[in-house]
Amino acid sequence: MVERPLEAPLKKGLGLTSTDQPVPLHLIDVPSDLDESRTSVGIGEMDRVLGGGLVPGALVLLSGEPGIGKSTLLLQLLSSLAHTSKSVLYISGEESLAQIKMRSERLGKTSRGLWLVCESDLDRILDIVREHAPSVLAIDSIQTMFCRDISSAPGSIAQVREATARVMQVAKTRGIATILVGHVTKEGSIAGPKVLEHLVDTVLYFEGDRSHTFRLLRTIKNRYGPTYEIGVFEMTDRGLREVPNPSEVFLSQRPGPVPGSVIVPCMEGTRPILVEIQALVSPSHLTMPRRTSTGIDSNRLALLIAVAERHLGLALYDRDIFINVVGGLKVSEPASELGVILAIVSSLREVPLDLDTAVFGEVGLTGEVRAVERAGLRLKEATRLGLKRCIIPWPGSDRLKVPDGLEPFPVKRINEAVALISGAQ
Ligand code: TYD
Ligand code: MG
Repeated sequence: MVERPLEAPLKKGLGLTSTDQPVPLHLIDVPSDLDESRTSVGIGEMDRVLGGGLVPGALVLLSGEPGIGKSTLLLQLLSSLAHTSKSVLYISGEESLAQIKMRSERLGKTSRGLWLVCESDLDRILDIVREHAPSVLAIDSIQTMFCRDISSAPGSIAQVREATARVMQVAKTRGIATILVGHVTKEGSIAGPKVLEHLVDTVLYFEGDRSHTFRLLRTIKNRYGPTYEIGVFEMTDRGLREVPNPSEVFLSQRPGPVPGSVIVPCMEGTRPILVEIQALVSPSHLTMPRRTSTGIDSNRLALLIAVAERHLGLALYDRDIFINVVGGLKVSEPASELGVILAIVSSLREVPLDLDTAVFGEVGLTGEVRAVERAGLRLKEATRLGLKRCIIPWPGSDRLKVPDGLEPFPVKRINEAVALISGAQ
């Protein structure tokens, strides 16, 4: 079913600069004062994903599944901003003043300079914003807001889109940095924030496995910075805690040398993170053996299994194969492919990899191991965490600067990598 809003389109366009007459400017004369006007939000991981801080007039959409911790992150962020003598206005359409107060006490953050309003009528909210003139505005959530002159229910496409456009006009003309919270559902959300992605300047996605405490903040779009950074947080009983050293945390629960566990240095933005990929290969009693993966795309897994069968001569047709990336992380990098294959082989043959060995490399359909970007940074991170060996792609390995204390094992094909782990025994 596709929803069609019935109301007539607004007669007046919602231009950003409706007040001043546009004048053409030479590109070289345009002031580039973006970096000076950026404000650090006081949470390092958040600054990282924003590209250095909040920009006045920028519209940031903070999206994520319900219950993942958006309101918690927002409150910590706003308290931190309010602490640096910004005037911050927090509009909540979901929680009462008392609930927010309780949460802020739980977080141990009660700052002066943070103003609260519980309201969902957007026109009233915009009146308050115009009168109060905050430097930072937050609306939690955009789905609860409604414009009185639109007849469809709050949360519908028409309401969400119109509410955002109105907030945007006020924010842009007054230079108010605005954070909108938007819920998305696992199924991809039709009436959700997806329809807003082209309107706002920055889209952040807060994700994580709810059964794990780790939360990742990803940039999906950013007009004011790079889009590949992630921020890592941990949900504790006193709110979200930054995790500046994710590799250490993700590897901290490794058991001893067990079959099926492989360490892969992955790049998340400009930052290398060591992740543990686990595989379990067991005899299947089904006509269609199970292939289940958490944290790795299942099509990619199917492809890697086919490559392993064909080029390693493994019989996997009667095996169930489960893959898991520890800590609820999602790995989409091709550099993890060699690691997945080795994890499968290691589990199938019950050969553990040495604890101090890392693996990375892209795997081609003909069984060749291909070079990946930023190999040097990956090796550095592996060394920093005390690893001693790394299986790496042969192409480009001669030009690679290998850190002291780490022995590289360049391989051309996947069978060479498999021979290395079997030979280590
Ligand atoms: P919340 O921020 O309300 O999620 P959202 O706004 O995305 O819907 O947080 C949801 C969960 O976080 C809730 O289940 C309780 C948990 N939580 C903690 O574990 N520790 C805390 O300090 C807080 C405030 C919440
Ligand atoms: Mg919430």
